[in-house]
Amino acid sequence: MTAAPTATEVAAPPKPVPQLPLHLKRIVLTGFMGAGKSTIGRLLARQLNWDFLDLDAHLESRTNSTIAGLFALHGEPHFRRLESSALASALAHTSTVIALGGGTPEVLTNRLLLEQTPGTSTIFLDASFETLFDRCVLQDISRPVLADPELARTRFATRQPLYRRLARLTLQTEALTPEESVTSLLQSLEKITPGRR
Ligand code: S3P
Repeated sequence: MTAAPTATEVAAPPKPVPQLPLHLKRIVLTGFMGAGKSTIGRLLARQLNWDFLDLDAHLESRTNSTIAGLFALHGEPHFRRLESSALASALAHTSTVIALGGGTPEVLTNRLLLEQTPGTSTIFLDASFETLFDRCVLQDISRPVLADPELARTRFATRQPLYRRLARLTLQTEALTPEESVTSLLQSLEKITPGRR
């Protein structure tokens, strides 16, 4: 037998779905590994009543392999080619929050795809290398790009200007919980005007 709902369950009104400008068809989250792209993306999509698409997971299901397996078997250049075609496929989705891989914006074709697909707004989730590296170490995810920490730091420095240039909005996530990040993003997104990106 199911338990009768408590007073709070009955009384809680449904949360209103935030209204985004109509020109916005998809929101793309970018940033280094550990930036919270997937966690924040999932929460944001849930609040908007949109779909969530994680580019790494999309690529894994298209290739029936893991990211680590693709790196190990075929090397990074091959992985990047597969990632570009997964991105083109992901950008066909509407009413979707898309979390990129940390290295996706390194490839020029990917940056052009992101900039030139109408209705796409990219958001950069920023934090320091130290914070991001610590978060990644705590997560139980195999990331080939982190195998050499000094090389990872160099990649971080190379990518920062690319993330920044690509993004319509930048959010400093260092001191925010994922829920606070979503609240702040929603406030900014409600005001976003149709623009170059
Ligand atoms: C990579 C980041 C990973 C994944 C792959 C390469 C990178 O994605 O795409 O391991 O080059 O930074 P996350 O940023 O989601 O971990």
